[in-house]
Amino acid sequence: MIMKILVTGGAGFIGSNLCRKLLRNNHSVICIDNFNDYYSPAIKELNIKDFEQNSDFSLVRDDILNTEIIDSIFSSNKIDIVIHLAARAGVRPSINNALLYEQVNIKGTLSLLEACRKYNISKFVFASSSSVYGGNKKVPFSEEDNVDNPVSPYAATKKAGELLCFTYSHLFNISVFAYRFFTVYGPSQRPEMAIHYFTKNIIDGRPIDVFGDGSSSRDYTYIDDIINTIAANLSNIKGYEVFNLGNSRTVKLSELIELIEKQTGVKAVINRMNFAAGDVFTTYADILKAKKMLKYSPETPIEEGIKKFVKWYLNNRRSF
Ligand SMILES: NC(=O)c1ccc[n+]([C@@H]2O[C@H](COP(=O)([O-])OP(=O)(O)OC[C@H]3O[C@@H](n4cnc5c(N)ncnc54)[C@H](O)[C@@H]3O)[C@@H](O)[C@H]2O)c1
Repeated sequence: MIMKILVTGGAGFIGSNLCRKLLRNNHSVICIDNFNDYYSPAIKELNIKDFEQNSDFSLVRDDILNTEIIDSIFSSNKIDIVIHLAARAGVRPSINNALLYEQVNIKGTLSLLEACRKYNISKFVFASSSSVYGGNKKVPFSEEDNVDNPVSPYAATKKAGELLCFTYSHLFNISVFAYRFFTVYGPSQRPEMAIHYFTKNIIDGRPIDVFGDGSSSRDYTYIDDIINTIAANLSNIKGYEVFNLGNSRTVKLSELIELIEKQTGVKAVINRMNFAAGDVFTTYADILKAKKMLKYSPETPIEEGIKKFVKWYLNNRRSF
């Protein structure tokens, strides 16, 4: 079924890859993004360049906190689904910027849910995060696990977003899928995220800041596995459901650096730092629920994903 979809944060890493996919599937896409300078807005311009002129795509360069603009988008379009990705997305910067994170990630989410209530939009997708699992020791992380101990303001805002989604689903019959993404990577990945940051600095021969002794680990998930699943399940959004979207394989930080060294052919110069406050030691997704209900099946092993990322980086690094 062809739909009209509002994607918030559609010029960002996950958003732009998703908009491209939705347009390829012949949906009509409205994107709201304020091109803020958390990282270079030139990267966001590059992200949307190949589809910005598509007649099924319209772009609103504004803030999700601007309620007049949100209202005018909803009143002048018959939106079928809202896919809410816009957020302040870094963990470490949230510690010194908690009020900004609260505004964008909590108030912004509430504002969109309010618009859904007012305009009778019945389907909503929320970008949550593996960070809600905090320092949980039991692995892999399951959607059933307690997530009452987020260890950064960012994680707390994502948990708060999930709670608001639940409330609006309960009160106003808005069906919500909240996806807990596990460290997504691939073309257009944010420049401050580890894989992009390491690749750039290793290639440039600059030292890389490595927090901890390299034994911390992440469950890295390739972008196509995420967006294909979101796109394939638009019609299935029903009730209120939380899903882990990870690769369900952990990679140590030291292994990740070795993989990037292998693909770039350059040895990393490591600047060892203390383990950072707000970071979690490991993330590891139990994906049984997503496999069963969404037919989610992550297909890209880290070795292949890093190869694709490095190729993308080398082809595009002169553009930003
Ligand atoms: N990338 C990951 O590994 C990951 C993991 C877990 C959760 N997430 C979540 O997924 C979503 C997308 O993440 P991403 O990595 O693509 O980040 P991103 O920063 O590349 O994308 C977010 C986009 O939202 C826009 N935005 C931010 N505040 C806005 C505002 N007030 N009004 C309008 N637009 C605004 C930004 O300009 C940006 O283009 C975020 O909600 C993030 O918290 C990402």
